[in-house]
Amino acid sequence: MKWLSFSVIALLSLPVSASQVEVLHWWTSGGEANAVEVLKSEWTEQGNQWNDFAVQGGGGKSAMTVLKSRALAANPPEAAHLKGYELREWAGLGFLRDLSPMAEHLGWYTKMPAMVRETLSQNGALMAVPTGIHRVNWLWLNRKLFDEQGLTPPTDWNQFVAVAERLKAHNITPLAIGNEPWQLAVLFETVALGEGGKEFYRKAFLEQDSATLTGPDMVRVLTRFQQLRAYVPQKYAGLKWHQATNLLESGGAAMQVMGDWVKGELSAGNYRPGEVIACLPSPGSAGLFSYNLDSIAMFKQRDPAQLQAQGDLAQLLMTPKFQEAFNRVKGSIPALTNPDMSKFDRCAVHSYQDFLLAEKQGNLLPSMAEGMATPTNMRQAILDVLSNFFNDPNANPEQTALRLERAMRSTR
Ligand code: GAL
Repeated sequence: MKWLSFSVIALLSLPVSASQVEVLHWWTSGGEANAVEVLKSEWTEQGNQWNDFAVQGGGGKSAMTVLKSRALAANPPEAAHLKGYELREWAGLGFLRDLSPMAEHLGWYTKMPAMVRETLSQNGALMAVPTGIHRVNWLWLNRKLFDEQGLTPPTDWNQFVAVAERLKAHNITPLAIGNEPWQLAVLFETVALGEGGKEFYRKAFLEQDSATLTGPDMVRVLTRFQQLRAYVPQKYAGLKWHQATNLLESGGAAMQVMGDWVKGELSAGNYRPGEVIACLPSPGSAGLFSYNLDSIAMFKQRDPAQLQAQGDLAQLLMTPKFQEAFNRVKGSIPALTNPDMSKFDRCAVHSYQDFLLAEKQGNLLPSMAEGMATPTNMRQAILDVLSNFFNDPNANPEQTALRLERAMRSTR
């Protein structure tokens, strides 16, 4: 290991020439693009060149398809937005650079929460650097609509349905959401957390316990999930997540259940989060923190200049200055320990406080919808079952629970 760290020191001491990196990502909505701009400007301010390889499509499905084709053509980018199980699978195939020598040499492990190191490590090797911690189980609501209708923000799913019925009776769309499977999976995940609870969620999606997947709690969760179909927008088909956020901002809908990349979109719309749009834990999930850790991985390269550039980029991402500037815009919280939260909005401060509490109480949960909890093919099987179920008015919750269990078992 001594030799390795020597080579790292040698690399790091090379004369600083303009590094150039190509980065593949899917951060293309208003708020996401603003966040990429923060990263790009910090990188170019150091005299480096940024080659942007952006692939449209919230949630990253298209981006992963393009990345596969590029890697198979032996033409991967220097860096890519890779996270959760996708990251582990790419690492397992040997495509990614082990960043452990840098991490050890630069003391990164002491600067990141345990969850971050665990999520980014494969067989003890650090396979990516984190950009930020998103919380998935949020309810966003249009405070103006709630005040006009004299409504109280719902803290459980019974209250959510009662509020939704009141809104619907006044021709106000209760829930801003599109029919993309990943968006529906986020909604389902929050229902599973709020109606089933932490242990149910863990047994179902982390342990994939058949009895839990087919049991009465799952049937109850699926029944509640199906009930929410009545509250989606008129133009639900094809509505992208950021368009749902725009609908929420403009008063075209009263609520959205989605991760806090929504906040980045609100800032892009020049709303100050926590004023017109309020953030609160999704119904029944207060105290729980479903995390989606964004990260950037480096694809193996031979050229020393590209190795140097990757090292420079990884070091930039791990600076408190970058983590603050990027996460304030992205809607997530820094992925480093003891961040200075004084410049963050109230929703981010709420998220950070809840993160610390959840970390202490064992209430940090990897997001199934965001690819943190199951292998990629199992996640896709879950999304397919949930999407078909939610969009079929005659679907049967009991049968769907059996189908879900079978689909997950068949992808093991
Ligand atoms: C997630 C990604 C987030 C956010 C969201 C919407 O998968 O981790 O950073 O951008 O997609 O595109």
